[in-house]
Amino acid sequence: MLPCQRHLFDIPEDVAYLNCAYMSPLMKPALEAAAAGLARKAHPWDITPDKFFTGADEFRAIAAQIVNCSAEDIAIVPSASYGIAAAARNLPLKKGQSILVLEEQFPSNYYPWQRRAEETGASLKIVPWPSDSDKDHDWTAAVLNSLTADVAIAALPHVHWTSGGRLDLVRIGEACRKLGAALVLDLTQSLGALPFSVREVQPDFAVAASYKWLLGPYSVGLLYVAPKWQEGIPLEENWIQRGNARDFSSLILYSENYDAGARRFDMGERSNFALLPVAVRAMKQLLEWDVAQISETTGALNRQLANAAAELGFSSPPDDLRAPHYLCLRRTNGIPREFPEILAREKVFVSVRGSSIRVTPHVYNSPTDAERLIACLRQTASVFG
Ligand SMILES: Cc1ncc(COP(=O)(O)O)c(C=O)c1O
Repeated sequence: MLPCQRHLFDIPEDVAYLNCAYMSPLMKPALEAAAAGLARKAHPWDITPDKFFTGADEFRAIAAQIVNCSAEDIAIVPSASYGIAAAARNLPLKKGQSILVLEEQFPSNYYPWQRRAEETGASLKIVPWPSDSDKDHDWTAAVLNSLTADVAIAALPHVHWTSGGRLDLVRIGEACRKLGAALVLDLTQSLGALPFSVREVQPDFAVAASYKWLLGPYSVGLLYVAPKWQEGIPLEENWIQRGNARDFSSLILYSENYDAGARRFDMGERSNFALLPVAVRAMKQLLEWDVAQISETTGALNRQLANAAAELGFSSPPDDLRAPHYLCLRRTNGIPREFPEILAREKVFVSVRGSSIRVTPHVYNSPTDAERLIACLRQTASVFG
């Protein structure tokens, strides 16, 4: 378990920020990296051509440590939707086949598949919310049940974003390989807070936006591309993906070849001098804390919250079926939409997503933050009816 790391963040004492799944705060060292990164543009003569490559490769190397793969397998993308779109463009799909998604899946991992299904005559197959009494909350069992011969692509998260349910991706990965189905992952609500390993899960593509659990900036993300898809077609044809890009004077000697590994999938202007160092600094800190420890620390706080909330009539998935860092609380009568605003007046911050109050702490939270949320839940019992 990690001691509270609030000293590394600029979070006032009277703010109980329990909303990392919405957007993480930048830690102070990352903010310093941001200031230094932005300041580089004041002296462009110092941004020599090699810097277009070294910063990006540093990002790749550190991202590869987070997901446990080779740095060559990492592309730099602006968003989860961009990474999913790259996967959708490259994975084969035929009329009559299906793409597996979860009920209430996040739109960035839904719309690209809906479009692809329309284009090919394939269909979307939606894994229903697991509500059978024995298997309540068990998304892994629900996915395994739905993995039938028609499934060509399983497009899934590690954590279901409105229930907090955790998927056993190792078992799902095995089942996909047995079936010959591709596995595409949106790890935005888990990477950095829940241990994940490409080597164990063996996805075809996996993407994560960095502004949540990777504690990074908005509009930077990482995309893992399995070696077998690295000859694929990128979404953009930009100059820096090409084999001749290091020689700035010869860019108009147009090259047929792409740069090595997953680099062809990099977004345009991927050498973002202001933001990449921020993402790198944040990921370094995550590795220093250790993702397993982050999971344990946030998990302990959420267990305390789940138990106290249960006494007030809120239910949540059992500990063994939900992600430790991600607690979704439900009530029989539902949750009023205005609930987050009521709490925000007390400077307690959570979200409502679907029918749940979503509570997502990080290592900057203290037991006092949890106590303040519980006090608010108790006081606002009247709004729940
Ligand atoms: C599960 C999940 N995926 C992705 C995103 C962000 O998507 P994008 O990077 O396409 O904006 C979010 C944001 O809330 C999310 O909850």
